Amino acid sequence: MTDHLAATRASYDAVAENYTEFVSGLLEGNPMMRAVLGAFAELVDGPVAEIGCGPGHISSHLASLGVEIRGIDLAPRMVEIARAAYPELVFEVGSMTSLELADGSLAGLIAWYSIHHLPPDELPGVFAGFHRVLAPGGRLLIGSHAGDEDRIQGSKGYGGVPVSYESFIQPPDRIVDLVRAAGFTITAELVEPGTKPGRSYLSLFAQKD
Ligand SMILES: C[S@@+](CC[C@H](N)C(=O)[O-])C[C@H]1O[C@@H](n2cnc3c(N)ncnc32)[C@H](O)[C@@H]1O
Repeated sequence: MTDHLAATRASYDAVAENYTEFVSGLLEGNPMMRAVLGAFAELVDGPVAEIGCGPGHISSHLASLGVEIRGIDLAPRMVEIARAAYPELVFEVGSMTSLELADGSLAGLIAWYSIHHLPPDELPGVFAGFHRVLAPGGRLLIGSHAGDEDRIQGSKGYGGVPVSYESFIQPPDRIVDLVRAAGFTITAELVEPGTKPGRSYLSLFAQKD
């Protein structure tokens, strides 16, 4: 495991409880997010994985919309919390950098606010992995922080708990180009202004040909 992955895993283990509290009620107050996830739920037909599922609330929401979904997260504590909260769903520990999923086995894959912790030079390999595990016609949805290029060393995370993960902010177009370069067709792109100057929220729909 790289130093980055180890730092991200340890940090999310440490903030798992506080993060769970932070996201509780988030979807209820965010109609745009519900609209994007709702569109994804209508587009997919078959098994879906959420990669970087955290405490499982996005997977649970998609399941409530009829999606056959499982969650995968790097942080074991996140997976424990997700399993306890949503015992009807399957959650496993794993990394998007080495997905243990069979080629062409998914109809859909969602990575929701989880890719920004990877150094940009690892994204081509991650997106190639997403492409590998999707069946032809399979749908990809990425939600991500985006904006002016920035590299942020975390020090205090949710609830003030010390963290050591880094975040890598990239322009939306660069993320779109990397997804396209991995072999996907881009089907929709939504860029919403962020709460900080120079930042945005990207929702990117893509499809494997
Ligand atoms: C900001 S949280 C997002 C969680 C959830 N998707 C949500 O929207 O609330 C980022 C999550 O991505 C996970 N993560 C970070 N790097 C990962 C990787 N390489 N593979 C799998 N999960 C990863 C973290 O452990 C954390 O739970």
